[in-house]
This record gives sequence, structure tokens and C-alpha cells, in this order.
Amino acid sequence: MCGSVSVSATTRSGRLSPVEGTLYRALIRPLLYLLPAETAHHFAFACLRLIAALPGVRHLMRRWFHPDEGALRVRAMGLDFPNPIGLAAGFDKDAVGYEALGALGFGFVEVGTLTGQPQPGNPKPRLFRLPKDRALVNRMGFNNRGSANAVPRLRGPRATIVGVNIGKTKIVPEEDAIGDYVASAKRIGPHADYLVVNVSSPNTPGLRNLQATEKLRPLLGAVREALNEVSPERRVPLLVKIAPDLADEDVDSVADLALELGLDGIVATNTTVGRDGLASSADDVEHCGTGGLSGPPIRERSIEVLRRLRARLGDQLVLISVGGIETPEQVWDRIQAGATLVQIYTAFIYEGPMLPTRLARGVAELARARA
Ligand SMILES: Cc1cc2nc3c(=O)[nH]c(=O)nc-3n(C[C@H](O)[C@H](O)[C@H](O)COP(=O)(O)O)c2cc1C
Repeated sequence: MCGSVSVSATTRSGRLSPVEGTLYRALIRPLLYLLPAETAHHFAFACLRLIAALPGVRHLMRRWFHPDEGALRVRAMGLDFPNPIGLAAGFDKDAVGYEALGALGFGFVEVGTLTGQPQPGNPKPRLFRLPKDRALVNRMGFNNRGSANAVPRLRGPRATIVGVNIGKTKIVPEEDAIGDYVASAKRIGPHADYLVVNVSSPNTPGLRNLQATEKLRPLLGAVREALNEVSPERRVPLLVKIAPDLADEDVDSVADLALELGLDGIVATNTTVGRDGLASSADDVEHCGTGGLSGPPIRERSIEVLRRLRARLGDQLVLISVGGIETPEQVWDRIQAGATLVQIYTAFIYEGPMLPTRLARGVAELARARA
């Protein structure tokens, strides 16, 4: 089922004061810009985890940043999301800080991509800013400690809904990909609120070939079977994440396959290998080199894919829409276009830690105004 956003009478209205966002943009962001993009990411994430680890602070953060608890609830995949705005995969690859991120106001956090074996990812630098486009280019290459390493951090009760995104280890040949995904699914499935099979990152050679129906069918079938085997008492929801670069007919084929295999949903979309329509100079773009482009430049295609999927699927399956979302209005538009939930990544980097709660409050306001 798709789920829907409902607004309760208890909604506390209002956007945050502009000061809160301005503080980040005027003071913190320029300081972070002095660092290489990946170092800035690690530094900011470490600070957040440190602050949230202080006694009582996470609880206070949750109270402050989740003021609209109950207002924007979405029931989907058997889960109760406090709001429909999640953090996309790639930010917390090793599931080390999802509770701190959840306390910031995200309705859910997708951790990963985790691979069957630990791997260092591509050589640095591998993450680049294109500020004129409010975009990023990354060729991280699934740097992560491996799915087995994350299991202890995902065991036990938690306050944040956590999806786990899995991918293929780089050194595993394409013909052995299924075994790699299945190994991760078996380890991590019992601890995931939902599992995403990622076949759409541009930075693992050959990965996106797995989006072709003849390869995707056995892969998703095997992962579904593995989840049923390791978690017979709780059906772990299974989704697939697709690229914005798929041709329209291929988007339709994935939708049909998802229905055929009884998947729970589709995450659309990942980053693009395209570089069309950028405001940044050719030199700036060239300096980034290869990798996936994210942020506003992929917004239009991401919405197109969402609309296409919803038209194909009718009311069936959960759609998590991701790509270029920056404002409450854009969240609202995605929901109107058929998204069950949305995710953000790049805007969180540009706008800072207040963004999730600002989006949630803004959407609550829009929902009320249109009720
Ligand atoms: C630095 C970076 C790393 C990412 N790593 C992953 C990843 O490991 N797995 C994945 O499925 N998507 C990954 N993504 C893609 C995002 O989850 C998201 O699909 C994409 O960035 C589009 O959303 P956005 O425009 O809000 O950033 C990454 C994106 C960025 C910018």
C-alpha cells in the first residue's frame, strides 16, 4: 500500500526562524567549505554524533526537532513513519549515526550502501561541490566496512526507522553478484526495517547492468527468498533503487517486475552520469571528473520517473522519491505526484542540520492550508 500523509489537529505550525538556517549558511558552511568536501562531511557528521552522544541530548533533540510528531505520519510497509522525509543512502554508509540523524527530524534514515565485503572505495578526491548548481558529484565507490560489520549496530530496539541499502562488492564479478547481495541480505535483513537492493550507483563498474530485467529478476528473487528464510516471523519489506538514466521503457519494465515479484516498493532515483543543463563553468564540471551528479540538476528527471512509475503501478507499491528536493513545496509536489515517502541528501549538505525539521514543518503547513 502507498500510505498517505495526514495532518492531525495537534500540528504546531510554523517554519523555523530564518536565523536558524542563516547561521549555518553564513557561518558554518563557509568554514566547512575550507575543507575538502569529504573531510567536511566526516567532520560535520562526527560533531553531530558527538553532540548527540552527550547524556540526555538526543532526547532533547528529538523533542525539539520532532515538534510535529503525529502531524505528518505515514503508514507504509507496516511501519509508522513520523514524517515522510528521510535521509537518502550514502550519508551514513556504515550505520554509525542513524539515531543522531533521526533525532535531527528525519522521518527515517537509509543507511548503506553496504556491500558483502568491506572495501575502501575509489581513490580520493572523490566528492566535489558545484555550488552554482547546489549540486554534488561523487565517485565514492561504496566505501564501507561491509555488511557484517554493521550488524551489531543495527541490533536491538531503536527510535529511528532504518532502511538498509545493499550493493555489490567491487571485486566480486558480475556473474557472482547474486551471492554477494544474498550474503548481505541474510546478515542484515533481520535488523532492517526495510531493505533496498541498489543496482543504480554509477561508481561500481557493471552495477547498473543489473537493472536489466533478465538480470534483475533472479537477483531480486534470490534476495526475497533469503529474507523469507532468515526472517520467517517478520516479512522484511524489499525495494529496488533505480537510476534516473534508465530509458522510459526500462522504468516501466522495472515497475512491472516489481509487481511480478511482489516487491514492496521502488526508490527513484540515484545520481545521474549526465551533465546537462548545469550553470557551473565547463572547467568546474570537468574538474569533478566522472561520477554521479546529484541535487537540483536531477530534479526534473526524478519527478518524471516518479510520475511514470505511479502511472504504471496505480495505487500499488511504495514509491520513495529522491533527487533534487530542497523545499517543503517540492516535498509536497512529490507527494502529490505519487510519492509515499521522499528522501534528501545534497540539500542537507547545502542547507545544514535544520533542513529536515524545516521541511517537515513546512509540509505540515502546506497540508493544513490545502485541507
Ligand atoms: C556523496 C554521495 C554518496 C552517495 N552514496 C550512495 C550510496 O552509497 N548508495 C545509494 O544508493 N545512493 C547513494 N547516493 C545517492 C543518494 O542516495 C541520492 O539517491 C541522490 O543523491 C539524489 O538525491 P539528492 O539530489 O537529494 O542528493 C549518494 C549521493 C551522494 C551525494
